Amino acid sequence: MLGFRAAESYKSEHCLLKNVGVASFNKQHLRLASYAVEFSQIVEQLAEREPKPEDWKHIDAVFSRISLFVATHFREEEAMMESQGYPGYPGHKKQHDRFVDQLSDVRSQINNRNINFKGKLSTLLWDWLYKHINEVDYQYGEFFREKGIS
Ligand SMILES: [Fe+2]
Ligand SMILES: [Fe+2]
Repeated sequence: MLGFRAAESYKSEHCLLKNVGVASFNKQHLRLASYAVEFSQIVEQLAEREPKPEDWKHIDAVFSRISLFVATHFREEEAMMESQGYPGYPGHKKQHDRFVDQLSDVRSQINNRNINFKGKLSTLLWDWLYKHINEVDYQYGEFFREKGIS
């Protein structure tokens, strides 16, 4: 699998995401993967130099976009799981909550202009895209399919 640093394009990333069986969620996952690629490009640019004020502005913008879209996506997944009585909902929600908490730690680092946010956010996005989506989200596919949702 490609790491974010090695990611060459949006295309190479999204081929690695599993189909979770719900079209709107697949679409949201792809959009999130594209944000992750955008973030990895910033990280690459900053590998050999200190961020300038305009770099931090770009980081603020990309991070805000990621966290807003993550919030929307989690809300929609949770609403669907809850309304359909998905048995894995409580554990799944816990993972979302943990991810949101970790994002808020990254937010503080970014606000403090602490460059260590780079490693933390890369790990988070990696874990979330490849482990959460491909393993945890993937599990609801069959359940929703049986409920006639696609
Ligand atoms: Fe998801
Ligand atoms: Fe999820």
